[in-house]
Amino acid sequence: MSTYSIALIGGDGIGPEILREGKKVMDAAAEVTGITWNWKDYPYGAEHWLKYRKGEPTLMREEEMAELGTHDAIYFGSVGDPRVPESVGQAGALLWMRFYFDQYINLRPAKLLRGVESPLKGKKPHDINIYMIRENSEDFYIGLGARFTGNKSSETMELKRKLYKARFKVDVDVEPAGDFAYQIGVVTEKASERVLRYGFELAKKKKMTRVTVVHKANVLTKVYGLWIEKAEQVGKDYPGIALDFAIADATTMWLVRRPEHFQVIVAPNLFGDILSDLAAATVGGLGFAPGGNINPDRKAGVSMFEPISGSAPKYKGLNKANPIAQILAGKLMLEHLGEDRAAELVEQATEDVLEAGKVRTFDIGGKSTCSDMGDAIAERLLQLKP
Ligand code: IPM
Ligand code: MN
Repeated sequence: MSTYSIALIGGDGIGPEILREGKKVMDAAAEVTGITWNWKDYPYGAEHWLKYRKGEPTLMREEEMAELGTHDAIYFGSVGDPRVPESVGQAGALLWMRFYFDQYINLRPAKLLRGVESPLKGKKPHDINIYMIRENSEDFYIGLGARFTGNKSSETMELKRKLYKARFKVDVDVEPAGDFAYQIGVVTEKASERVLRYGFELAKKKKMTRVTVVHKANVLTKVYGLWIEKAEQVGKDYPGIALDFAIADATTMWLVRRPEHFQVIVAPNLFGDILSDLAAATVGGLGFAPGGNINPDRKAGVSMFEPISGSAPKYKGLNKANPIAQILAGKLMLEHLGEDRAAELVEQATEDVLEAGKVRTFDIGGKSTCSDMGDAIAERLLQLKP
């Protein structure tokens, strides 16, 4: 049976407590299916930074990032703490990890589970079942741009990715002088093709019939013009799957009015960020929203699995948060490792507990603790057949 080496990063806020429950359920899944986990804990987060890294722009150092890459996957809680500049946990850990390991897929499924009520009227379990795929390496997330005061600016900016390197030289002359800012968004053929193809392949694997490609090519004609052209090209290789285009603003409306329409969604980075929170809300909120930052080629880069909720510092240490997003992130990790049966069991145990309704955390109107929920799901999993 397979053995996997996993890096655990609890991080900040509720991160460590929900990750503990995630690990508990992963251990139960291992017991049932016979896989073995080798867990290794890493201390990266606010406390560690304040003690040992204060003033540095990143949460960990490059050699430490590289070491994370020696594992089969990273199981991540969350980062973000009011005592540490936001950019340290974001650009200096989360986004850095995505780019460093070329985790070009951000898979954020939104499924209405048995036992969970949608805020949208009349939805039954699985009526909403969306594989949201967010491009995770470029678009408006590349961090290039400038801000200046006056009437002149001259910048040379480098963009380094595993796929390509680009240099931008931007000279601005502006009249009259004043505060000025610009930010560059990049879309490339190669990065678009690979994420779009992933979307179609996932649709095929999950026996879905439609891939919706989100854009705003009517206004951002250059970047999303290229994006929809690539979608058309890739779509031709999948004659059995309908290619459906949706403009980003209209997509928000349709996600609320008719979420059943959506099967697989492929969105550029920034729209994907926004739409994945919205999709999460339709299936019970961020407590049910897992994410995988995935490099499908396990040899080329390690992947990272996390709840998309953030660290919720005000709930830190209260044993109150809903650990289900973390547990479902573990399900995505199992799928990535090729352990599809174990992944199914995790979801089934989670749904069984939710449907039984005895254990409910505060976000879904109950009084159970974070660890009650982890215990109940792990216990239920141990009763299931491999
Ligand atoms: C997310 C978060 C991040 C993002 C932030 C924390 C940088 O909102 O993972 O969705 O914008 O990607
Ligand atoms: Mn987000």
